[in-house]
Amino acid sequence: MNRYTAEHFAGDTLHDRIARAVCEAECLPRKEFHEAWESAKRIRRQMRGGEVWELAAGHGLLSAILLILDDSSPSATCIDIKRPPSQERVLAALQNHWPRLQGRIGFEESRLEEAQVPTGSLIASVHACGELTDRVLDLAIRQRTRVAVLPCCHDLRRCDTGALAPWMDGPLAVDATRAARLQHAGFRVQTALIPAEITPKNRLLLGWPETPARISEPQTRT
Ligand SMILES: C[S@@+](CC[C@H](N)C(=O)[O-])C[C@H]1O[C@@H](n2cnc3c(N)ncnc32)[C@H](O)[C@@H]1O
Repeated sequence: MNRYTAEHFAGDTLHDRIARAVCEAECLPRKEFHEAWESAKRIRRQMRGGEVWELAAGHGLLSAILLILDDSSPSATCIDIKRPPSQERVLAALQNHWPRLQGRIGFEESRLEEAQVPTGSLIASVHACGELTDRVLDLAIRQRTRVAVLPCCHDLRRCDTGALAPWMDGPLAVDATRAARLQHAGFRVQTALIPAEITPKNRLLLGWPETPARISEPQTRT
């Protein structure tokens, strides 16, 4: 997305206004904008408020859109082992148009497995590759926080297929098992899809901690 492609987003909708700001940053492919927008929109229909913790954040656009869509979240913390240059550029461009974002979105270069996420937060993660999505769910289960993940790069050797692989395609078996895992851990679960033309890895899994876990969690593989 760049100054030349901004003309594709000429409308007065929030979608187009955010897209034009991202075009000014001139560092993201269009797909990444659409993934973040479509995920954030669906998350905010269901989950309001709370500190946002975006894990495996990369450019961190999801955090910014989550705060733009719901100003009742005080802050967002992006965590990734490496802060890409795009994160600063995207955030600067968005802050020019939404000054209320200033000072509210932080970035920590660290492993998400070690994140100190307070209870009451909202954990969100778009395309944490393979098993990394399971580490995001580990954290949400441990901290009893709301969680929203859009998994990708399903690793059928390392991720749990719940013995469902003969019945359905392997990546679907992994995500179905993730949903069941959250339910067994005492979470209410909802599922949604973002448009498949944006990404084939389009399953959004949402969870809210409700009750104590029904069974103790098995030891996670490391
Ligand atoms: C496919 S990218 C997704 C980035 C971003 N969420 C997006 O939608 O474009 C996966 C990200 O996970 C990060 N990552 C890999 N291992 C990690 C870990 N253990 N803790 C935190 N981030 C990690 C990578 O640096 C990379 O930015």
